[in-house]
Amino acid sequence: MPISETGVDSATTKALHQAIEKLPRVKLADLPTPLHECPRFSEAIGQVRILIKRDDLTGLAFGGNKTRMFDFVFGEAVKQGADTVITGAASQSNHARQAAASAAKLGMAAYLVCRRDEKSKQGIQGNQLLDHILGANVRLCEGSQQPEKERLREELLSQGKKPYLIGGHDQLLATAAYVNCVLEMQNQLDEIAAEPDFIVAASSSSTLAGLGLGAKLLELKGRPVGFRPSLGDNSRVLDHLADIANRTAELLGLESNMSPDDWENTDAYVGENYGIITQACVDAVQLLARTEGILVDPVYVWKALSGLIDFVRQAKFPAGSTVVFVHTGGLPALFAYHQELVEFGGYEDCIVPGNSS
Ligand SMILES: Cc1ncc(COP(=O)(O)O)c(C=O)c1O
Repeated sequence: MPISETGVDSATTKALHQAIEKLPRVKLADLPTPLHECPRFSEAIGQVRILIKRDDLTGLAFGGNKTRMFDFVFGEAVKQGADTVITGAASQSNHARQAAASAAKLGMAAYLVCRRDEKSKQGIQGNQLLDHILGANVRLCEGSQQPEKERLREELLSQGKKPYLIGGHDQLLATAAYVNCVLEMQNQLDEIAAEPDFIVAASSSSTLAGLGLGAKLLELKGRPVGFRPSLGDNSRVLDHLADIANRTAELLGLESNMSPDDWENTDAYVGENYGIITQACVDAVQLLARTEGILVDPVYVWKALSGLIDFVRQAKFPAGSTVVFVHTGGLPALFAYHQELVEFGGYEDCIVPGNSS
């Protein structure tokens, strides 16, 4: 049986490709995304080899992990004959922005029911600004968003529209998208004869579940490690990861018996809470930007990056390890955090005295 450089059985790879190809799919993301070697950043943080899988470069309206997932989620919506999508999360949601862009590209309407949170009170910026430019119908909600999404769905149905409310089952399609990402990454790792010891992402849900499931099915040695963007109960997150991974395997018609032990996940680098930045975040983002010219988002990837650096310093990622860090995107939110950045970064204008004569 043919085996690749890193020992992956090509029959398994083929079976996985075939299972994923059976899912409905549209083409929104520019794939494969590059896998970048980061020698200057690696040297700056310790004796590890860091490779960054650039899912911030999936292409559509600043890209990110959701664009990769939406190939399948919107594939399902199109299969069901939908002409409108309804979704939403935080006011600076990357998911919402990528849904608005996907809908625009496919000629569908997008309704975004987002939270009227602190960031939205500071004005229309970052992702929210892009939601408007992309033509989405943006609504900000003080209370729970789900009832408003359901109400909107009924209203659109009564107008003869065919709305698709993004939710439940889509988590599995999103997880399958990240199983597919592992297949894509495996080819790239083969080309440079690299074998990761750890596969890291800013995630506590489909991204990490898919990376873990893909790695397990392909029998890769890389252990999936997730850094969460918000505080919460670790064992519940690990149970959730195993649950959605196993249900995704079932959807793909594959055997899987993943357990919570198959992942690591921590909220240790969240700081005060979701969306509130820390000094360690700003130090991390500056270090990556100043060593590799790569920018990351303030809500998810910053925190994961500060976690990655600390894991190297604490030898939880020991010297000599190869780490693949999946950059999940989210860059537009950076501009909604400009005030915090200026303050934590200590940035100031350096004005050259004018010569007006
Ligand atoms: C930039 C970014 N990274 C990571 C995530 C987390 O992805 P998941 O929900 O798959 O854990 C999100 C989710 O919105 C995101 O916007």
